[in-house]
Amino acid sequence: MKPVEIKDGIFWVGAIDWDERDFHNFTTRRGLTYNSYLIVDENVTLVDTVKHKSVRESLDRIKKVVDPSQIDYIIVNHIEPDHSSGLPDMMRIAKEATIVCTQRAKDGLCKYCDCDGWDIRVVKGGDELKIGKRTLTFIDMTMLHWPDSMATYLKEDKLLLSNDAFGQHVASEERFDEDIGIEEALYWAKLYYANILMPLAGLIKKKLAEVQKLNLEIDMIAPSHGVIWKNPAKIIEAYSKWAEFESENKVVIVFDSMWHSTEKLAMAIADGAGSEGAEVRVFHVRKDSWADIVTEILDAKSIAIGSPTIHNSIFPPVAGFLTYLKGLKPQKKRALAFGSYGWNGVAVKEIQKVLEELKFETLEPLMVKFKPSEEELQKAFELGAELAK
Ligand code: FEO
Repeated sequence: MKPVEIKDGIFWVGAIDWDERDFHNFTTRRGLTYNSYLIVDENVTLVDTVKHKSVRESLDRIKKVVDPSQIDYIIVNHIEPDHSSGLPDMMRIAKEATIVCTQRAKDGLCKYCDCDGWDIRVVKGGDELKIGKRTLTFIDMTMLHWPDSMATYLKEDKLLLSNDAFGQHVASEERFDEDIGIEEALYWAKLYYANILMPLAGLIKKKLAEVQKLNLEIDMIAPSHGVIWKNPAKIIEAYSKWAEFESENKVVIVFDSMWHSTEKLAMAIADGAGSEGAEVRVFHVRKDSWADIVTEILDAKSIAIGSPTIHNSIFPPVAGFLTYLKGLKPQKKRALAFGSYGWNGVAVKEIQKVLEELKFETLEPLMVKFKPSEEELQKAFELGAELAK
């Protein structure tokens, strides 16, 4: 359990959780990390703590640098329990530490934990904290992605400790983007962005512009999950693109099926889209991870969603997926609802309703009784081609 010195006197002292496969319904198929950073200065400062189950691992790393009881400040950038549930254990050891956080974080911490006797200093965006030769500046990150969120900037080190922003859910022994490979780091960052930050695209655009105006010199971004960016421009550029919903020439088809009829339509739509040269992805809502599906939807130009009708209603797995998708608020798509039915086409109407709520440009929905005929499969092919044009 070695700490990793990421800058002179600044150490990664987090934990690697190879075992975790679920982060509130986000499938973390390669585990995740909880990053915590220790700054050794006149005042020893810990930025963010780890999930409760990983406190021992983080402490082992801290102990190789300093005696944890000597920690003077614990900066809580964000109170979601993947970071803050380890705080009570840390406070039992670093008894004299002052917690530094926003007012909303203080209110939330005292709901999550027994904060009786804790010294909590409330800060807001723009406030500074001198810890010796370094100055920490706090950056307001309200609703990115919780009301309490902030980031911490170290001007002397040109280091941004960004908490969840720019993070990735991946477990790795590598600590830096260059070690895991920039393309791979961006892949995991995209998965994280799509499943956690996609609904906040408007706020992200504003925040990126705001931070640009502050003219901060940043040569490293260290988030609270995943690898550290030695190439911050790469991830900032990717965030700008994702927040604009810049699309690739890609059509994503998502479906479920009872007796293969909706599946046949899905495959015909895929063929049609492929015939126009689009990249095509086909997903089955019960076989594929929803996290992967929405990641592909993030930068697709068109999507098609299909469901059979059952019990005078939409097929439940598709309904669940649509609820997930609706919450993530993807934008700027062309879209098609399709599906088979026996005696009414409720499912397709339900899908169409959601696509309209998302303000997508929709094509005429495709409803097929029982099994699609050759003509109906041809129609599905043509609609697929239309989605790709
Ligand atoms: Fe990593 Fe919002 O918690």
